[in-house]
Amino acid sequence: MDNSLHSSDAEACRTDVQVQECPRDVPSTQQELVWILGKTAEHRAEGNRNHVIRIGLISRAIAQALGWEPSRAESLALAAPLHDIGKIGVPDRIFLKKGCLTPSEIAVMHWHCWIGAKILLDPSALESILLRYSSPEKYFPLLQEMKPVFTTAASIALAHHEKWDGSGYPRELQGEEIPLEARIVAMADVYDALTSDRPFRPAYSEEWALEALDEQEGKHFDPCVYTAFLKNLPQIRSFRRQYPDNP
Ligand SMILES: [Fe+2]
Ligand SMILES: [Fe+2]
Repeated sequence: MDNSLHSSDAEACRTDVQVQECPRDVPSTQQELVWILGKTAEHRAEGNRNHVIRIGLISRAIAQALGWEPSRAESLALAAPLHDIGKIGVPDRIFLKKGCLTPSEIAVMHWHCWIGAKILLDPSALESILLRYSSPEKYFPLLQEMKPVFTTAASIALAHHEKWDGSGYPRELQGEEIPLEARIVAMADVYDALTSDRPFRPAYSEEWALEALDEQEGKHFDPCVYTAFLKNLPQIRSFRRQYPDNP
């Protein structure tokens, strides 16, 4: 595998830059919209958790540590909660199955990456999801206005299970072939999953989780993204206190 840094990633590796406060001028309706859409799929299996909210905040904190412009980091914070929206297209008999999945069921689960990208690039598909909720009309104009966010979110949805060493799915991309936004969300997603209670196991201790993540540097995770994650860990920890999961 070619691990040499290209200029774009060398830029992304600037973890020595000062962490900037991001602007707080994102309209609350944009935030509401991505949280509603992002929670739609996971609500079916895991109730009213705040995982998707934390993923947006953690991804933004990593992007800030990488020195991203505030507007780009803010756009990532809006796109990241949508990473698993494709789970909405996985049949209940597989998505809600207790116990181990068969290889063919695992393959169907993996489709959620493609389904998510397709949904996010289709405003009418997003509109039909919103129709399940009361007063969806106020969000419809945002579907066009936020098109760049949904385009980024589609790229994340497709690539958030890829791994730096090429052993991920669905396309087995390697290193910088994986969009940087998706590498950041992958880091945020695994950290938050390990430190959260799940229907099938209690949360791991943070100490255990950090050791597990450390082992995956350069395997699952982009080393630059991992370094940025560690740099902003105190802030990242605070998001769980701010948005705990509902019992
Ligand atoms: Fe996923
Ligand atoms: Fe997730």
